[in-house]
Amino acid sequence: MNNKIGIFDSGKGGLTTLKEIKKLLPHEDFIYYADSENNPYGNKTDEALYLIVDNIVKKLISKDVKLIVIACNTATTKCIAKLRENYPNMLFIGTEPAIKVACDNNYKNTLVLATTGTIESERTQELVLNNKKEDQNIYLLACEGLANAIEESNQARINELLHKYLDEYTTKKIDSIVLGCTHYPIISESIQMLFPNAKLIDGNIGVAKRVKFILEENKLLNNKKENGTIEFILTKKD
Ligand code: DGL
Repeated sequence: MNNKIGIFDSGKGGLTTLKEIKKLLPHEDFIYYADSENNPYGNKTDEALYLIVDNIVKKLISKDVKLIVIACNTATTKCIAKLRENYPNMLFIGTEPAIKVACDNNYKNTLVLATTGTIESERTQELVLNNKKEDQNIYLLACEGLANAIEESNQARINELLHKYLDEYTTKKIDSIVLGCTHYPIISESIQMLFPNAKLIDGNIGVAKRVKFILEENKLLNNKKENGTIEFILTKKD
């Protein structure tokens, strides 16, 4: 029986998603695919990114996964529709910037941080159009290079980029910040320090709830009592 959940990202970012899913579903077994070799995804063309993602999906399917979590906003916003079309028998759960959560909670000045790919995607435009009320401002900010600096744990570069991108927003009464890239929760403390009064919103809790709901709905929950396992697959640059 296919009993594992496949989950992938361009490296360590998706671990923040895995952590939330594991909290909710401790008995599930996971295969985590960290595609560091192809990091960053954020500046790839749609076609190039689809080829990369399609290759990962094929590998996960060959390992008999029952569901695939795309723990990456960039890959979700750009590829999930095509993946669902091309793999109609596979269950896909995506991760997208939690713009709806910010709007539903009536934040007035929301800053959305994400990769260039996510910010420029049609899906992000749609999320703004479908959720923003008249009295709300949403600032979409592409943080080119930030996910890669986090992937490489390059603290000096992270600090430099945070100041470069965020400094001009510190005077804009930002009350919520959407972490629209799964790498960003890793540096949430540094972001919070620049905006001490803003609520940081990451979509991972919503993703975890959705995974649980879809597994229940499809009667695919793992019924074992002991804790689940995690198998890691890591690709690296030469
Ligand atoms: N962690 C990813 C995201 O959520 C991708 C970062 C990247 O590789 O550019 O968008």
